[in-house]
Amino acid sequence: MDYQQLQNQQQQHNQQVQSQPLTQSQSQSQLPQRSTVSKGKYTLQDFQIMRTLGTGSFGRVHLVRSVHNNRYYAIKVLKKYRVVKMKQIEHTNDERRMLKVVQHPFLIRMWGTFQDSKNLFMVMDYIEGGELFSLLRKSHRFPNPVAKFYAAEVVLALEYLHMHNIIYRDLKPENILLDKNGHIKITDFGFAKEVDTVTWTLCGTPDYIAPEVITTKPYNKSVDWWSLGILIFEMLAGYTPFYDTTPMKTYEKILHGHVSYPSFFTPDVVDLLSKLIIADLSRRLGNLSSGSEDIKGHPWFSEVVWERLQAKDIETPYEPPIQSGCGDSSLFDMYPEEQLDYGSVGDDPYLKYFEEF
Ligand SMILES: Nc1ncnc2c1ncn2[C@@H]1O[C@H](COP(=O)(O)OP(=O)(O)OP(=O)(O)O)[C@@H](O)[C@H]1O
Ligand SMILES: [Mg+2]
Repeated sequence: MDYQQLQNQQQQHNQQVQSQPLTQSQSQSQLPQRSTVSKGKYTLQDFQIMRTLGTGSFGRVHLVRSVHNNRYYAIKVLKKYRVVKMKQIEHTNDERRMLKVVQHPFLIRMWGTFQDSKNLFMVMDYIEGGELFSLLRKSHRFPNPVAKFYAAEVVLALEYLHMHNIIYRDLKPENILLDKNGHIKITDFGFAKEVDTVTWTLCGTPDYIAPEVITTKPYNKSVDWWSLGILIFEMLAGYTPFYDTTPMKTYEKILHGHVSYPSFFTPDVVDLLSKLIIADLSRRLGNLSSGSEDIKGHPWFSEVVWERLQAKDIETPYEPPIQSGCGDSSLFDMYPEEQLDYGSVGDDPYLKYFEEF
């Protein structure tokens, strides 16, 4: 694969698709019954806004510093008009609600939210080590044990979410951050949804989307296990299995379902991937009667001591070179900064859509 292809792939990676939910399942919440209403609300004056760490379809994520305790945080800012225009009101409220209640060593922690008349703000821990995406592109591909380590931490995070009836729906290396010790933190709950039966929305990132999502069949947690397969493939190969120049061509490949495994893939990983990247839901690992246990018990993961991994009691394969302490952001790509309208007061036609923020 040449550089141009990689660049295209990088661009395609950043594109997401989303459509309005066609139907909504009636769900009885399985989440920890904690209040999701922030007690002490934050305001913009509590933070000094610093550089941009990432940009997305609705706004950007900034490094910020608390003026009270001098600690660094990341704030995701979403422009209300863009959220409304792209019909993502429900997804955005879901994102906030999911982030507020999840508690897991490999999931990002959110501290609170607030809003002004134009923007929504979500305050999270700042994760210094950058995106797994950047590390993967720099390394081209990961050796088998390295890919296995990250995949295993992802399995535990997905298992936790699924236990709480949350589908994540946007697994990809850009949404996996590395903390200062090299453990993963999954961020971006923009498509996460609490679902106790099935859902239909077309969303995700083309290379990672499962066939049942493309054909808008009802689907459930199985889509995350498909994406896990794509993630493991990409970590080991350096490219995704259904990569093509346009999302449409990628979808065609996904529906066709042919995966060409590089010859350096070991037989046990090919076995695992052929049971994850499989359209037949009655055969996809993770979606069978033993759930995630089938994945954790697969021979490719045989060396993993799951309890120790969960306790972060396993040495990480890579320690991010964080030179200048806690607020170091040298491991993040640079983005052009723009004039910020944060703190706007005045008319807010969208107030009624975001009452929880
Ligand atoms: N807590 C965090 N600490 C450090 N960097 C972060 C954090 N959260 C997000 N980022 C950076 O910002 C980028 C964009 O954030 P995120 O993925 O949440 O937004 P997005 O992709 O724009 O979301 P959406 O899917 O809603 O469009 C991430 O890929 C990551 O590089
Ligand atoms: Mg993202």
